[in-house]
Amino acid sequence: MAFLELHDLKTHFPVREGGLFSKETTYIKAVDGVTLKIEKGSILGLVGESGCGKSTLSRTVMQLQASTSGHVILDGEDLTALPRHEVRSRRLDFQMIFQDPYASLNPRMTVYSTLAEAICQRHPNLKNDKDALTKKVSELMATVGLDARFMRKYPHEFSGGQRQRIAIARALAPEPKLIIADEPVSALDVSIQSQILNLLLDLRDDLGLTMIFISHDLSVVRYIADDIAVMFAGKIVEYGGAEEVFHNPQHDYTKKLLSAIPHIKATA
Ligand SMILES: Nc1ncnc2c1ncn2[C@@H]1O[C@H](COP(=O)(O)OP(=O)(O)O)[C@@H](O)[C@H]1O
Ligand SMILES: [Mg+2]
Repeated sequence: MAFLELHDLKTHFPVREGGLFSKETTYIKAVDGVTLKIEKGSILGLVGESGCGKSTLSRTVMQLQASTSGHVILDGEDLTALPRHEVRSRRLDFQMIFQDPYASLNPRMTVYSTLAEAICQRHPNLKNDKDALTKKVSELMATVGLDARFMRKYPHEFSGGQRQRIAIARALAPEPKLIIADEPVSALDVSIQSQILNLLLDLRDDLGLTMIFISHDLSVVRYIADDIAVMFAGKIVEYGGAEEVFHNPQHDYTKKLLSAIPHIKATA
């Protein structure tokens, strides 16, 4: 059994058509029968255009959004079968990295406070052990390539790339089983993008991190992912090894995504 398995996962949103008294309920099938697996220590790239269901799929995996049907099995445990209060205790096992680190970090909290809080979610006993906590914060900062001397600074005192490093450290702090990165480099300068992608790859290698990396950009996904799943209208229309999908796409939609990458077109 793979580390994370999705079996025929569906998330449908009811929409009432024709006004308040209409009996017609139709459904937006945001996730419509997704079956996927991710091995421990690997990165799955999830690619598809805006509105195809990527964020709904990740929210459903994390149990932030109830599924309509299907199963999410993490580390052998079916999360869709857990009672509500159990689900809440599993939330720490999932951490997210978002597109805009400035919006996702609390501007009034220093790096130290942000990371200490995230560490204590998993290790509440450390709240009373300032030395151990400071040591853990220093180690986390080093892990993501930040100088621990800056732990008392605020988010606005860092560059965009450094802020995303802080957000990555915060995601690592509760020792999650799975990280979901939703367009984590889309808002960064191209020169910074590759630094962050390389950091994520190093973390995968050094910590055995398991990750779903979401992007609309197939060239970014190819760079970082072991496997690629192409999503279209709630369904996975193509799945395979990253190079295989990139060089030998089977589905018309994947071919369209590939032809939308400018430098590929120029050299083809
Ligand atoms: N809470 C919701 N209620 C109703 N429709 C939703 C909800 N969340 C997302 N959707 C719809 O589901 C579809 C997929 O959205 P989303 O998962 O955000 O796509 P993506 O992340 O790929 O851009 C869209 O049509 C969106 O409008
Ligand atoms: Mg989205």
